[in-house]
Amino acid sequence: MLREPSVAAPIGEQARPTPNLGRLQADLQQFAELGATADSGVSRLAYTPLEREAHQLIARRMRDAGLEVRVDPFGNTIGVRPGRRAGTAAIASGSHLDSVPNGGRFDGTVGVLSALEVMRLLREQGLETEHPLWLVVFAAEEGARFGAPCLGSKAVTGLLTSDDLTRLRDAQGIALGEAMRGVGCQPETLGRERWSARDLAAFLEVHIEQARVLETEGRPIGLVDGIAGNTRVRLIVSGRADHSGATPMHLRRDALAAAAEIILGVEALARDPRRRSTVATVGRIEIEPNNLTTVPGRAVLSVDVRDIDSDRQRVTAREVAQLAYRVGERRAAQVLVELITDSSPAVLPIWLRQHVAEVCTELGIDFRVMNSGAGHDAAVVARVVPAAMVFIPSRDGASHSPQESSSLADIGRGVEVLYHAVLRLDRVLAELEGLG
Ligand code: GLV
Ligand code: MN
Ligand code: MN
Repeated sequence: MLREPSVAAPIGEQARPTPNLGRLQADLQQFAELGATADSGVSRLAYTPLEREAHQLIARRMRDAGLEVRVDPFGNTIGVRPGRRAGTAAIASGSHLDSVPNGGRFDGTVGVLSALEVMRLLREQGLETEHPLWLVVFAAEEGARFGAPCLGSKAVTGLLTSDDLTRLRDAQGIALGEAMRGVGCQPETLGRERWSARDLAAFLEVHIEQARVLETEGRPIGLVDGIAGNTRVRLIVSGRADHSGATPMHLRRDALAAAAEIILGVEALARDPRRRSTVATVGRIEIEPNNLTTVPGRAVLSVDVRDIDSDRQRVTAREVAQLAYRVGERRAAQVLVELITDSSPAVLPIWLRQHVAEVCTELGIDFRVMNSGAGHDAAVVARVVPAAMVFIPSRDGASHSPQESSSLADIGRGVEVLYHAVLRLDRVLAELEGLG
């Protein structure tokens, strides 16, 4: 059967539009200004007015690109480009726009703007697809504020519970549900909207690598195989607050000294060579009363254990708890362990990655297959819908810091891969569905 010219043709027959790096740069700059910090970083935390502002800005850009835009009850912003066949599952791409405190300008934003550029290029090429295309901007990907990550994607895949809405709290004690309502979301509708394979055929996420592997090897693209899972616990160490001058050393129950021993123990656990891919971090500590002349009475540590191997992830988290109890016992400090969140590693489907790999080969773009130590919405979406991830190099591997950077040329290559991957999937899925 002859294809009409407006339907995507295989690469080679089809135009290879050049991503418009000028408008990508201008948009990157505009988003960087929302929550800009003094040292060129970005602070745009989950479910804050700044994150909402970023979603409103992308919604305007999506409408300008001809998309129909909606915001779901959990603050995810979705732009839809209709396909020729109404009622078929969509092909989605996107990422997130929130950041960690004083994070970088590229984490998440690059994936969102890459997907936007694909929509713009398709429009400029006058191309229609068989399937609807979605540009998805997930809310609250970073676990920085509430401890648990990927809250927007979990909400639409059945992985967020109503218990999480009251249990997960930020450093000020604001509950997740309350924060969501505070920026106009409707968390009480949790469970009503749930994405499935009927809505989405595939999800593709472009993201900065956040490590140095691609740069070191001189490769422009990484295709993700597995995404590490995470188990996060809060360790509450209670000693006794006493006068720092009057209390002899042998009578102290110093919570911070106990916490220090636990922190070094966590590092030693993860560095054990038998563990290979485990990483563990104490990224946050609160001390009370945090006063120069008082022996610390209480320390709260947040521990993030990640691994591509779910057994090792959970075993290490258990060993962290045992270690904390042991230190507490020896130092006469009480230790409480609370689970903040627990997500399994995800293995992304090979067939989908293979299509993206073939696109890279056809475009003459070198790539490697690699795991992701960082977490991503794609790992959550992959529980219900096939997902793939395209990494582009991070300069010097910097991420979650103002030093985060990727070159426009590398971002442009990510856009090209995404553009052709979307068209290829559209064609392949249409053939499978008997539409082609
Ligand atoms: C998300 O950026 C993460 O913390 O892995
Ligand atoms: Mn990210
Ligand atoms: Mn991040």
